[in-house]
Formats: sequence, structure tokens, C-alpha cells
Amino acid sequence: MKILITGGAGFVGSHLADKLIAEGHSITVIDDLSTGRYANIEHLEGHERFRLIIDTVMNQSLMEDLIRDTDRVFHMASAVGVRLIMEQPVKTIETIFHGTDVVLKFCSRYRKPVLIPSTSEVYGKGASVPFREEDDLLTGATDKHRWAYACAKTLDEFLALAHFKETRLPVVVVRLFNTVGPRQTGQYGMVVPRFVHAAMKNEPITIHGDGTQSRCFGHVLDVVEGLTKVLDTPACLGQVINLGNDEETSIKQLAEKAIELTGSTSELHFVSYDEAYGEGFEDMQRRVPSLDKARRMIGYQPTRSLADIINDVIREAKGSSAAGSTNA
Ligand SMILES: NC(=O)c1ccc[n+]([C@@H]2O[C@H](COP(=O)([O-])OP(=O)(O)OC[C@H]3O[C@@H](n4cnc5c(N)ncnc54)[C@H](O)[C@@H]3O)[C@@H](O)[C@H]2O)c1
Repeated sequence: MKILITGGAGFVGSHLADKLIAEGHSITVIDDLSTGRYANIEHLEGHERFRLIIDTVMNQSLMEDLIRDTDRVFHMASAVGVRLIMEQPVKTIETIFHGTDVVLKFCSRYRKPVLIPSTSEVYGKGASVPFREEDDLLTGATDKHRWAYACAKTLDEFLALAHFKETRLPVVVVRLFNTVGPRQTGQYGMVVPRFVHAAMKNEPITIHGDGTQSRCFGHVLDVVEGLTKVLDTPACLGQVINLGNDEETSIKQLAEKAIELTGSTSELHFVSYDEAYGEGFEDMQRRVPSLDKARRMIGYQPTRSLADIINDVIREAKGSSAAGSTNA
């Protein structure tokens, strides 16, 4: 198949490109390299079934040509990361909402199957874990910019499902929970690369809040398996599906694990959310996916643990294969 990956030079998109190239597909990546990196796809350049276009998904005439000429689309391009969202709220909303609008419009016009990634952020302050796809969503006030990401992604979900309802556009919405692994950059506030890189340099590890807040970390290679499966499964069309890992760990435990696996002498340094992100920042205490729907619909079962993830990030930082992964 001919497959278009928007944001394919990003963290998740580049792993997806690797998998789909290995399966024999022809891949076009469009990426403006705003948070993505050329280095993520450099190894694919020159491959006869790979093409990179450095441009924005806001370029409507280009997007129309690309979508008309493809068999399916993975729309991974997005503004990502809490720090970026706090610092560039306008760009965040425009990229997420307008970019997805362009993609859905042309996928609908040319009847192309498309995957729209959403995020666990849409569950917002929901307190009843694990989060299920049919749960109510509860976000904060509009003057708290972090919620702009969740709301823009929620609107993307509504728009995708509206296209499915009105014209049966073959679309799947996937809510990704914290997805981590090689190639993720710590630059935009991502916690795993930030902790591992600090631990490797024996520098203090900065924890926002008291570190009791918990998250579930999914290995990008497990998640990418799920992304391709949902679009291959007709029953998933018109559905919203959680993907990630449901093993819960506190941020303090994550830091301790990074220290243990790197053999580091780093100390933990706690800073308040206000200090890190400005006054009035809100965070959620727990974020755990229910994977029941993914298990039922695509037999989804993550196989890589938090230790596998940290070891892969360490291995990458030490300069060995960026794509290599243990599967213990
Ligand atoms: N990594 C996670 O934990 C996580 C969690 C929830 C949701 N997601 C979603 O998964 C998708 C991929 O995220 P990621 O972690 O790989 O982030 P990423 O920042 O590595 O990838 C996003 C890519 O989109 C590109 N991009 C941004 N704006 C663009 C534009 N206007 N035109 C073309 N390209 C553009 C960036 O340069 C980057 O390469 C996003 O939709 C994100 O919201 C990721």
C-alpha cells in the first residue's frame, strides 16, 4: 500500500514508518520538523519506498495531492508536550485543530482510511481510574492553558466521528497514553528521556510536585503495533480506542528506576508545579487506561515493561541502535 504519515519525523511517526517500510509498504512522510527530527528518519532516506516532504499539513493544496494519491493516512502531526503547550498555546490549538480538519476533509473527499491519534489528556481531571472510552470527560477552566491541548484533541475526536456518522469516512480515533522509548526527546518536557538523561549524567532529577502522581508508560513499539492493527480491523472504524500500557508507576518510582538501571548517583530534586509551569498549573494525580476495548477488538497486549523502556532509552543514549528493543 501507499501510506501517508503526517508528522512521520516525530517520535511515534518515525517508528511507524520503520514498521510499515519493513512490511513492504511505500511511505510518504510530511513533517515540518517543528518538534520532529530529521535524524529520526535519516536512515530511511534513499530507500526506494520512502519519500520525505518537509512542509506543513496546513498546506492544503499539497495535502490534497498527497491524500488523493495514497491508500491510507496516519495523522501523527500535532503540537505535543506539556511544556510546548504552555509556551505556545495559539500554535497548539491551530496545529491540532486546523491540521486535523485539513486531513479529515481530504480523506473524506477521496474516501481514504485515516487514523487520528488523540490523547489520555482528554480524560482531564477524571478521577475514576481506569479510564474507559465511554467515560465523561472533565477538563479545567479555559484560562488554564494546559487544557487547550485536551480540548483541541477532543474537538478532533468529535470531528472525526462526525465524518464517520455523516459519510462513513473510514476513521479510527486512538487515545494514546504516555508513549515512550527511543527517539523521544526530553526537550518538550517528556519525563522518561528527561529522567534517564539526567541519571546518566549523575545530575539531579527534577520532579514536579511530590512525585506521588502516577502514570502508565507504554513502549512505542507496542503502541505502533496497535496503531496499525486498528486501521486493519473494520470493526474499529468509527470507534475511539485507548492504547498504551496499564502498569501504573509513580513519577518518584520512575525516577528511582532510572537511577537504579543507570547505576546513577543522581539525587531527586522536587519543584512545585507553579515553579515549573507558572502559577495555577493543574495536573492529574493518576492516569490509567482501561485496555479492555483494545484487547477485545484487536487482541492488544503490550509486552514491554518499564524496565525494557528505560533500558532501550539508555541504550540509545549510549549510541547503539535507536530502534532496538528488548521484548522480555
Ligand atoms: N508520545 C506520547 O506520549 C503521546 C501521548 C498522547 C498522544 N500522542 C499523540 O501522538 C502523535 C505523535 O506524537 P509524538 O509523541 O510522536 O510527538 P512528536 O512531536 O515527536 O511528533 C509530532 C510530529 O508532528 C510534526 N508536526 C507538528 N506540526 C506539524 C505541521 N503543522 N505539519 C507537519 N508536521 C508537523 C512534528 O515536527 C513532529 O515530527 C500526536 O498526535 C500526539 O498528540 C502522543
